[in-house]
Amino acid sequence: MTIIEQAELERQQRYIGQIGQCMEAYRSETGFSRRYWIHTYGCQLNENDGEKLAGLLGEMGYLEAAGLREADLIILNTCSVREHADDRLFGNLGRLKNLRQEKPDLVIAVCGCMMKQPEHVARISRSFSFVDLVFGPQDIYRLPELLYLRLLDEKKQYLVGDEDTLVEGLPIHRARRFRALCSIMYGCNNFCTYCIVPYTRGRERSRQPGDILRELRELALSGYREVMLLGQNVNSYGQDFEETGGDIRDFSDLLEAAARENFYRIRFMTSHPKDISEKLLKVMAANPVIEPHLHLPLQSGSNRVLGQMNRQYTREQYLATVTRARQLIPNLAFSTDIIVGFPGETEEDFADTLDIMRQVRFASAFTFLYSKRTGTPAAEMPNPVDPAVMHERFDRLTALQDAHSLAYNRQSLGQTVEILVEGASAKQDQVFSGRTGQNQLVNFTVADPALLPAEARSPDGRIDGSRLEGGLARVRVTDAKTFSLFGVLEAYRP
Ligand code: SAH
Ligand code: SF4
Ligand code: F3S
Repeated sequence: MTIIEQAELERQQRYIGQIGQCMEAYRSETGFSRRYWIHTYGCQLNENDGEKLAGLLGEMGYLEAAGLREADLIILNTCSVREHADDRLFGNLGRLKNLRQEKPDLVIAVCGCMMKQPEHVARISRSFSFVDLVFGPQDIYRLPELLYLRLLDEKKQYLVGDEDTLVEGLPIHRARRFRALCSIMYGCNNFCTYCIVPYTRGRERSRQPGDILRELRELALSGYREVMLLGQNVNSYGQDFEETGGDIRDFSDLLEAAARENFYRIRFMTSHPKDISEKLLKVMAANPVIEPHLHLPLQSGSNRVLGQMNRQYTREQYLATVTRARQLIPNLAFSTDIIVGFPGETEEDFADTLDIMRQVRFASAFTFLYSKRTGTPAAEMPNPVDPAVMHERFDRLTALQDAHSLAYNRQSLGQTVEILVEGASAKQDQVFSGRTGQNQLVNFTVADPALLPAEARSPDGRIDGSRLEGGLARVRVTDAKTFSLFGVLEAYRP
């Protein structure tokens, strides 16, 4: 692991200064600012990386573009996990080719997890040679240098580092105002046999507790009400620390310290079932600011498949964790990830997955069709599941999960739930939305605008949803669907 030293950050800072001067000259000459557009695929860790790229560009004097067509710099921040991620990336790149022809000084960059897979970089060099910059998830801090070199002599810059880096102090431009993302660790050591992440994100490395707590303090002071602590496996936070003299040695300690900061809510993702400790559950139970929600990826309910996946737990251990967690935290909601059609999965294995779902009754689930990732052990495994069988199982799985999600949501009917408001609903005018501590999406209307602070109301009676972001609302639930609740506002606290 390489800790990026201050001297390197200062070197990057000089590039930021030089680009900043060019941007300033361009602005005074033309009256316009250069603009960037970042499209992030994949998980919240990648989203948090996108926010750091935006932070660096902001320091260089770039502004965010309102859309792709307005941008002078386009960055595609890729993911290697999600289904057909590669098709989507290359499809989008194909469309960018035309844009580049219309706008020759447009700069196009591709970064993120896919760039750690050499076959994708080779394809970009071969078929999408108009891409100007390529870099990996570990090289984000070098964006100023790469961009400067590209702008200076118009040469393409492809750099995907091999080292696992840890960088502190990058500027950040946060995408949301109600929830801040905070990556507490990077990488993964688990090597589940289907998963590419350990190869794209490298080995686990934990940020120092002092650096994380400083970031949390700043977030709370700047008005963030909710923070989400992120890592591929947050339960193994701190296992890479050499010194264990400090007060914060593991994730439970960190979570407990975070709970003392002034937030309404703290969430975290993702927990590996093999590493859930009694200590963690007790910290959750003792601190109501930590949401009663556990995302606990199951992947499969069959012990045989779990073994082949190298998940390192059995279905019995998974169920025991769920039971113990429910004893300690009675209102706890479970969500999960499940893969259908892992090589060799039989109808019997799949029945075991449905069975465990019926026992746990997850509030929600992300369901995936197994897809092969070159370089992972599962890619070499025999007996692939026939695609038609895989799809048929997938349909049965989602039907069962939908029934469970609906039943779970219906328990809230007629009750008043507390939600953290995320703003106006994207779909309906004068409907607002937020989430419960159990991570249920709640849409609501406001029958009595007097419940809201004056600055959220305009004279014609309309409500500005953006003014409600980050507030706590009490909503009486009048309707429950599979993926959301609907209700009426009863009380609001900014
Ligand atoms: N670190 C997290 C998950 C990261 S990837 C964890 O361990 O839980 C998010 C999800 O993508 C995984 O939980 C898994 O369900 C799914 N996934 C990963 N690789 C996959 C593959 N090759 N095919 C199908 N689904 C996959
Ligand atoms: Fe992938 Fe497994 Fe690591 Fe999650 S724990 S990122 S599924 S290797
Ligand atoms: Fe995707 Fe990389 Fe996240 S592969 S899920 S963006 S860690």
